[in-house]
Amino acid sequence: MAHDEVSGPESPASDSSAVETSRGTSTTTVVASDVENPGEPAHRQRVTDTDPKAAKTAQRSVYTLFYLSIAGSVFAIAAYMAFPIENDDVGSVRLNTLFIGIGVALALFGIGLGAVHWAKALMYDKEGIDIRHPVAGTPETRARAVEIFHEADQESGFGRRTLIRNSLIGALIAFPLPGIVLFRGLAPQSEDPAELLSHTMWKKGARLTLDPSGIPVKASDVTIGSVFHIIPEGLNEMPDRLEQKAKAAVLLMRLNPEDLNISPGRESWSYDGIVAYSKICTHVGCPVALYEQQTHHLLCPCHQSTFDVVNECQVIFGPAKRPLPQLPIEVDSEGYLVAQSDFNEPVGPSFWERS
Ligand code: FES
Repeated sequence: MAHDEVSGPESPASDSSAVETSRGTSTTTVVASDVENPGEPAHRQRVTDTDPKAAKTAQRSVYTLFYLSIAGSVFAIAAYMAFPIENDDVGSVRLNTLFIGIGVALALFGIGLGAVHWAKALMYDKEGIDIRHPVAGTPETRARAVEIFHEADQESGFGRRTLIRNSLIGALIAFPLPGIVLFRGLAPQSEDPAELLSHTMWKKGARLTLDPSGIPVKASDVTIGSVFHIIPEGLNEMPDRLEQKAKAAVLLMRLNPEDLNISPGRESWSYDGIVAYSKICTHVGCPVALYEQQTHHLLCPCHQSTFDVVNECQVIFGPAKRPLPQLPIEVDSEGYLVAQSDFNEPVGPSFWERS
């Protein structure tokens, strides 16, 4: 078969790469230039290109959206001043974030939609072709670059003066280390941070209560397939309740007892299929808040770590490395669910002192 060999990297029709196909015993070579270039599809005009009235309407929509965005930004600032966060008042945090969030969402929505509408309805709309140029420089340019690199090495003595070079590399490696050590200062100084991270406010006999109301939960309230967000009894009265909640939050679920795979030593940690696990993800501490009732999987929305409730919250997907710690529970004389003790291991992500 005869084909036109076209050379030169600049032309889109010049790709002379070949594909070999076999039919029986004969081999045919198909060259890209054999394929007819279908060309560009015919340009379709938009309504706004042909109808000045439609263009005017589109223009009005675009600036209205941008004005809406300005209004959203002003609203967010006003909300910041109108709904200040009061110390220890969770309600004020909610109002503050809600109204600032609405304002910021409006601002972003207005800019985003306005820009897209502008681009689609009013901006230049003709198709064009950009030819892809080779990325590599010419052989001369590359040779010169290598030459400059060697010259710089010679002039600076970087390769020759090994003692200086190695000490510089050591200094650059050591330089960020104080920054890492300074993280230690983020922990409260009044207590041993390892001790602080190793315990929560759960203790023997503490009732499991609903988050945020603090209403105690009876075992009979927990039906199969249900899930409850739980905090320890008395948490709402703690002066540092947000800090305590960040460690002690729990998810409570009830499954068929025969579905649970319980390892030796944990037989008494659940009650008739009711299990409680730390809500704090063992990856970097986000609240694990999504429960898939059919699969019995708990999902962390931050990086999609997935924990299998049937198998003691072992990690089955994602970056978390440890199962969610289980809170041993039982039922008191009045039928309320209570903790048997604190967690048997620290909750949440790793820390240096963690054993
Ligand atoms: S914090 Fe849960 S997966 Fe990252």
